Amino acid sequence: MYNDLLNKKTRLAVVGLGYVGLPIALEFARKISVIGFDISEARLEKMRNGIDPGKELDPEAFEGCDIEFTSSLEVLAKATFYIVAVPTPIDNANMPDLKPLLEATTSVGKVLKKGDYVVYESTVYPGCTEEDCVPLLESISWLRFGVDFKVGYSPERINPGDKLHTLTNTVKIVSGCDSESLDLISKIYEMVVQPGVFRASCIKVAEAGKIVENTQRDVNIALMNELSIICSRIGINTYEVLEAAGTKWNFLKFYPGLVGGHCIGVDPYYLVHKAHQLKYHPQIINAGRFVNDSMGGYIGKKIVKNLVRLGKNIMGAKALVMGVTFKEDVSDIRNSKVVDIIRELEEYGISVDVVDPQASPQEVMHEYGIRLSTLPIHLQQYFQCSDQQSTHQTVQTSDQRSTHQPSQPFAQQAINETYDAVVVAVSHKEYKNLPQEFFKSITTDKAVFVDVKGIFRNKIDQMTYWSL
Ligand SMILES: NC(=O)c1ccc[n+]([C@@H]2O[C@H](COP(=O)([O-])OP(=O)(O)OC[C@H]3O[C@@H](n4cnc5c(N)ncnc54)[C@H](O)[C@@H]3O)[C@@H](O)[C@H]2O)c1
Repeated sequence: MYNDLLNKKTRLAVVGLGYVGLPIALEFARKISVIGFDISEARLEKMRNGIDPGKELDPEAFEGCDIEFTSSLEVLAKATFYIVAVPTPIDNANMPDLKPLLEATTSVGKVLKKGDYVVYESTVYPGCTEEDCVPLLESISWLRFGVDFKVGYSPERINPGDKLHTLTNTVKIVSGCDSESLDLISKIYEMVVQPGVFRASCIKVAEAGKIVENTQRDVNIALMNELSIICSRIGINTYEVLEAAGTKWNFLKFYPGLVGGHCIGVDPYYLVHKAHQLKYHPQIINAGRFVNDSMGGYIGKKIVKNLVRLGKNIMGAKALVMGVTFKEDVSDIRNSKVVDIIRELEEYGISVDVVDPQASPQEVMHEYGIRLSTLPIHLQQYFQCSDQQSTHQTVQTSDQRSTHQPSQPFAQQAINETYDAVVVAVSHKEYKNLPQEFFKSITTDKAVFVDVKGIFRNKIDQMTYWSL
């Protein structure tokens, strides 16, 4: 199969062209012939025009690629090596929602032929590939696993917004259902992953390897968040404590913050689910999830307490939240914990405006029912010195809209400039160099300044400053 792929006698298909699937599909398409399969025609249409719907890749990434974007099973059937990279979210009860994964598996099962390979890249709990996906592939295709078709698992490590650690320059974990499949799958990935692959001993090890990377991070951030709650009660700054402790050679550098998005805040629940199936109830993983999931509400309450201390009337107080994406310098708003801060403030009767230079107003409205506001033109000067390049995305007037500007009915409104509290919730590059005068110019006399990520530490002395 390897030579047939290289000689373009057969094709590789990527099923699910999102943050993970599209870069992989394009990278392979520089070497071999690729079918990019997705169920969203709207997204496919953008990709056919060289546009990444996730806004991570430049149009040049599509240049020179041998790729056919399709939602047709007839076209999908022309492949022999399938990579599945569809979402694996959780439901409202924090349980794994395998619907997209099983639907994608059904599509592959319908076109599976003798000799084909299927490699899963979606993040799953250990056992999911062999116990949930393989039986479905067998029942739909009427083929025998291990005899007629083979399966592997290779998790993805890309990190949205991270231009340093990419698919091609980061070692990739690879696994197969037997030694022959491990060899072939490794060779195929080595076409595009320059530092090579790590050959895991079996599929479950590769699945667990991925999930523990993110669980470890989640638990460590939870520890920092808990530390931050304690420091706040003591009356000392968490970052100063971490700076001091960080001078020891083996101190791990984690920081407090909101844990949102579709990986770190989600994947530990997959591991918890598997543990429950095996009659073990994880304490540390769940504790980490509890602490991190509570941080939005905690920050909201801290803002309220600070406003009360300043003698503000909470009912009708105004707050501006800057940043709504799940982390800095990305447009992705999925599972953003900033929304927890907004909801907490609103529950107290505080009126909240939200701005974000990177998020799409349509998506924010669709996902959370929140209308993004704009910054009026006379505040542009602050953003020019903060980040020249992003000025036009950040600051808009009614006739100077960003590329994200929605059409009616949710036209954006300018912020009102009399806020009692400003919350810099996401450390977007556009915000990092904003001077104190900017915040003073949009707030009332006595105002609360909340710096979730601590980026304005020692820079704000004319407002009531608080950070995690
Ligand atoms: N985004 C990341 O940074 C990242 C990093 C590592 C691992 N992962 C994991 O990779 C997987 C994919 O995540 P993502 O962020 O790329 O998701 P995504 O939401 O960006 O994209 C998923 C794509 O799959 C398509 N899709 C959904 N159901 C489908 C189906 N039945 N058939 C074909 N296409 C379908 C969607 O239309 C979309 O284009 C998840 O398991 C995630 O946990 C993500």
